[in-house]
Amino acid sequence: MVVATAALLLSTLLLFTFFFFRRSRRRSEPPLDKGRVPWLGHALEFGRDAAQFLNRMKHKHGDIFTVCVAGHYVTVLLDSNCYEAVLKDTQSLDLRRYAQVLMERIFSLRLPNHDPESEKMMMEKQFKGSHLTQLCRSMQKNLNFLLASETTQNPAEWKKDRLFNFCYNVLFKAGYLTLFGTKNNNCAELTEVYEEFRRFDKLLAKLARRSVQKGEMTIASSARERLWDLLCPAWLAKGAEPESWLQAYLHHLNEQSLDSHTQRRALLLQLWVTQGNAGPAAFWLLGFLLTHPKAMRAVREELQGLQHLPLDERENTPVFNSALKETLRLTAAALITRDVVQEKTVRLSSGREYTLRRGDRLCLFPFLSPQMDPLIHSEPEKFKFDRFLNADGTAKSEFFKEGLKMRYGTMPWGAGSNLCPGRHFAISALKQFVFIFLKQFDLELCDRNASMPPVDSSRYGFGILQPDGDLEIRYRPRK
Ligand code: HEM
Repeated sequence: MVVATAALLLSTLLLFTFFFFRRSRRRSEPPLDKGRVPWLGHALEFGRDAAQFLNRMKHKHGDIFTVCVAGHYVTVLLDSNCYEAVLKDTQSLDLRRYAQVLMERIFSLRLPNHDPESEKMMMEKQFKGSHLTQLCRSMQKNLNFLLASETTQNPAEWKKDRLFNFCYNVLFKAGYLTLFGTKNNNCAELTEVYEEFRRFDKLLAKLARRSVQKGEMTIASSARERLWDLLCPAWLAKGAEPESWLQAYLHHLNEQSLDSHTQRRALLLQLWVTQGNAGPAAFWLLGFLLTHPKAMRAVREELQGLQHLPLDERENTPVFNSALKETLRLTAAALITRDVVQEKTVRLSSGREYTLRRGDRLCLFPFLSPQMDPLIHSEPEKFKFDRFLNADGTAKSEFFKEGLKMRYGTMPWGAGSNLCPGRHFAISALKQFVFIFLKQFDLELCDRNASMPPVDSSRYGFGILQPDGDLEIRYRPRK
């Protein structure tokens, strides 16, 4: 037995070592960095803090390089001016395979007839035009309802909370009621969905990297199973409003002939996609405003000027828009991943061409470039609420890197075929939340000298970052 185990271990090690040393850089391929550990390569550093690791590699190799990560060769492209052109090539770059890997690891979900193109079309239709107007109205109503319930019996009394918890709670519940809400909702259930979701969301990055420990797996599985129960498709279908997003999505699932178990799992995936980013984004936005009094004053002044207009007519808000863009520049950190299914040539802005090898993966990381690139944004790590404003107060959209005009100064919503279909809804929800909250409540930090907590570095790659810590706040209704 001992001999057999030792032989198995040895042969596995030999296999890994063979795989590792066999790979060498071909002419015209990007610089190759395999790391020191056979097979594992840079996996540990990548998982611990992807931004720090990729920044280190960028300084070493430039805007394109290939690294070994847990048995995969991943080419990282950081020249943002060619992201869109690269993503357009759906013949050579496949988005399905890696998406399926993540769906299975995180949501235990397999969609055999999954057609991302038709799903994308359905989503885009549901988040624009009259559907979008309806969703924004419903969100406004739900935010008003939830924020009104925050008032205490004695309105002069301050209520204390942690800002991340407060923002995630309100945005999640309002978003859930808007998209998944039915005639049958009740408050206790809403709270249960939120609490189970937070337990699950805390372990999401670990599930994706398969680094959950035994106890954590028990928590993740029980939260996931409870959420599957709460998201029962038959029950949701009975209460869904006609022509709503929920009804369209359930119809889309039925068209794929999925059984009810699979439908529940798909609904949890959608719950995360639609509710996992807005709450954390609201935290960063309010947190930056609270810790930057000049920015808070500028946003309040703009809000003051709009007081007499109904909420849905408050379109012209350049100061708020700039503060939100700046917040998302600093905290939106999704990785865009594709499988290279046939050899492909990538042409960088410099004109230099590189070949991507079939079987490798390609990763784009807008967080590092353009968002945190010091050659595009001065002092990129600092929050400057007016970074996206021109001197005359209009929206600034032109950014340059060493004299070269950049297509985008920030890309929180992804790029090309990866663009978030819910972005207009998300912007509207964040604006409504901040405006209603600042208008109806006094809000301050419990400790006036508190500063923003650092980011939880394990969340790079999964949408909006989350903090490692929180900010204590207190609030009460305005007189
Ligand atoms: C600040 C908030 C948000 C940010 C920064 C954001 C960003 C993104 C990004 C980068 C993607 C592409 C991810 C990928 O394919 O790997 C994405 C996808 C998506 N987002 Fe958002 N999002 C936000 C909020 C929302 C909201 C509120 C909704 C809807 C209510 C939404 C709906 C979607 C959907 C349905 C997809 C999937 C598209 C697909 O399957 O290809 N997002 N989002």
